[in-house]
Amino acid sequence: MIKNKRKPEQFKLITDKTFPFAAKEAYNSLRTNLLYALSPTNGKIVAVTSSNAGEGKSSVSINLALTMATAKVKILLIDADLRRPSIHKKLKIDNSTGLSRFIVGFETMSDALKREVFPNLDVMTSGPIPPNPSELLGSENMRIFLQKASDYYDYIIIDTPPVNIVTDVAVMADCISGVLLVTSYGNTTFEDVKKSNITLEKVNAKLLGMVVAGVENKKSIYKKDSSSYYTSK
Ligand SMILES: Nc1ncnc2c1ncn2[C@@H]1O[C@H](COP(=O)(O)OP(=O)(O)O)[C@@H](O)[C@H]1O
Ligand SMILES: [Mg+2]
Repeated sequence: MIKNKRKPEQFKLITDKTFPFAAKEAYNSLRTNLLYALSPTNGKIVAVTSSNAGEGKSSVSINLALTMATAKVKILLIDADLRRPSIHKKLKIDNSTGLSRFIVGFETMSDALKREVFPNLDVMTSGPIPPNPSELLGSENMRIFLQKASDYYDYIIIDTPPVNIVTDVAVMADCISGVLLVTSYGNTTFEDVKKSNITLEKVNAKLLGMVVAGVENKKSIYKKDSSSYYTSK
């Protein structure tokens, strides 16, 4: 297995001036394709996962949510990676409140939620790391939260831990519309993806599509671009 062959680049928001144009275009087509994949069932809850750690789940979750929010629909981004949360770090927002505290009843939803972090984009950060992530994510309170949020938001994007390593995505499977599987160019292997697919199939999670993150744009003669490309199932 080839792992960590390519050095990860620094995370950039799609709103950054230096964000590569090709990657922006890739996010636009990811949004379009995702909306097509969701439309037959009117689904609106998408879990973003990958086989292993460090493959770009959180980066894709954030930039996909931002891309969707620019289309004037209400988006909720949830950091459900309660093991290695990074949404708050990447967005540079407070994480003393959030999902882990709200789910167990320590906070109300409105205390835990960060509203309008960007126009049309609300964020539920992870909150402090709890001792029992799978239990919280598979709980009745989590289900009720997603149901309530579905009434208010047009789409909900959930960043999750790696599916080949922990069961967190599997325990949420019946609360979500489908899964977007992120793979890392040069790092994720076919065996990794196969294993993820088997796990997702076992729990009846619908695979909405796959994203290849970290693809180099060789056409650029000025500099190397990193982008994400979407392939449907
Ligand atoms: N499209 C990309 N091209 C290059 N590097 C990327 C890309 N997306 C993410 N990275 C980098 O890879 C590392 C892991 O990304 P992250 O989104 O935190 O992964 P995960 O959530 O799967 O652990 C980060 O350093 C991030 O900046
Ligand atoms: Mg992450």
